[in-house]
Amino acid sequence: MTDARIAVHTEASIDRIAPEVHGHFAEHLGRCIYGGIWHADSAAESGFREDTVSLLEDLDLPVLRWPGGCFADDYHWEDGVGPRDERPRRRNLFWAQGPEETPEESNAFGSDEFLELCERIGTEAYLAANVGSGDPQEAANWVEYCNYDGDTELANRRRENGHEEPYGVTYWGLGNENWGCGGRMSPEQYAREYRRFATYVGTMDGLLLDHDLELIACGYEGHEWNRRFLDEVSGAPWGEPFPLDHLTLHHYYGRSMTVAEADEDQYDQFLVEALEMDRHIERIAAAIDAVATTRDIGVIVDEWGSWHPEATPETGLEQPGTVLDGLSAAAVLDVFNDNSDVVTMTNIAQTVNVLQCLVETDEDDAWARPTYRVFDLYAPHKGNEAVRTSVSAPTRELVDDDENRELPLVGASASVGDDETYVTVTNLDCREDHAVEIALEGADLREGDVRAEILFAEQEPDLEVTAANAEAFTADDLSVSVDGKSIVAELPPSTVAAITVE
Ligand code: AHR
Repeated sequence: MTDARIAVHTEASIDRIAPEVHGHFAEHLGRCIYGGIWHADSAAESGFREDTVSLLEDLDLPVLRWPGGCFADDYHWEDGVGPRDERPRRRNLFWAQGPEETPEESNAFGSDEFLELCERIGTEAYLAANVGSGDPQEAANWVEYCNYDGDTELANRRRENGHEEPYGVTYWGLGNENWGCGGRMSPEQYAREYRRFATYVGTMDGLLLDHDLELIACGYEGHEWNRRFLDEVSGAPWGEPFPLDHLTLHHYYGRSMTVAEADEDQYDQFLVEALEMDRHIERIAAAIDAVATTRDIGVIVDEWGSWHPEATPETGLEQPGTVLDGLSAAAVLDVFNDNSDVVTMTNIAQTVNVLQCLVETDEDDAWARPTYRVFDLYAPHKGNEAVRTSVSAPTRELVDDDENRELPLVGASASVGDDETYVTVTNLDCREDHAVEIALEGADLREGDVRAEILFAEQEPDLEVTAANAEAFTADDLSVSVDGKSIVAELPPSTVAAITVE
């Protein structure tokens, strides 16, 4: 008997799911860049780890944010261009306690290496400029180095460094967590800084570049900070609107759940914390709506994912990669689909080895984590039109929770493409199977029209991925029954399914 029902309202369109919602983030932190993407000790012409690059290429990342994180507001981009053996060695202010390989910044991996990586894996670059300890001139110069096609010293320096054509970087973040490691600013102070930076960087857009820039301001999970920032930033005394295309928030979850020791009650709490992404998006969108009467400002979640107690500065923010993490990623990607009318990009933290990474490496191998499999399974949603779903499913109350929160045991989202409807369904219950009925409004379904796949059916929620077992986490075919208007699927505990209806 089914105990959960999902109605897919195929005519109730939300908005197009921006492919950039499946974006990623890589910082000079621990073994993300050095050891993960770039051979830490490479004196070679190119030090890319080809195993990592190949996994990233297969995943078809739409956008990659770099170089931080907290690192961004202590980074001076000119340190990282030109001949590698002449680049200065610097401290890594925020992440110096990390693994042996990376206590300091060699600057071997800089703008040209990052942008070469983006070109190789076919991804858009999102560069985060230094607002905390930098100045608008440095930020505007970086844009010029990357994007200007004229005959200036900086454009010519890019050519000398091997890139004749402008890179055409669209996404420029002005600062990172400027309420914290990016300068501990008040919202009003950051708004004034943002206006200065956006004036110089933004003016390049209209006057000097063939390429449109999209400028990204740093926001906060809390509504009050965003409202005060937006009030101040939009209160400029002159009439011309200045560029502010997106406002960001960061949402990490799982800090109270040590992976190695957690029990099922903590799994429930972890997933509820992940689902709070919905409330954070709602609040930042409300802050934008309150001030943005004349222009569209998108919401970017440019850092998100699990952050368990295992991930400390000393471990280089490394933590085990489990099914549970993958499950949380699926739940959050469903939230993004449901908010496709406001969410313009997201960047899971981080791409390789750090936090909820997609790819893990040791000296010899690189392998995909469960979260990688989830991104792969959800890929058909990219660029589709998200449609409303109604989920009716049992819930479980969290144990000892002051806020009396409940975990919905089944979740879903759906989108419509040119030839098919794509429905993703999670069984967020780590204890029990759930039989789920999926009804598509207006559909007349036959067996041959439906294909289904499932992740993690054979694995326990706390199973940790290693080089040796990584292939066991790939998707399996799922057998479903189809009856006219609905599809019924039996989902084992902590699984993610995807159903394609042609
Ligand atoms: O992703 C790790 C850190 O988390 C980033 O450097 C910072 O922006 C956030 O606090």
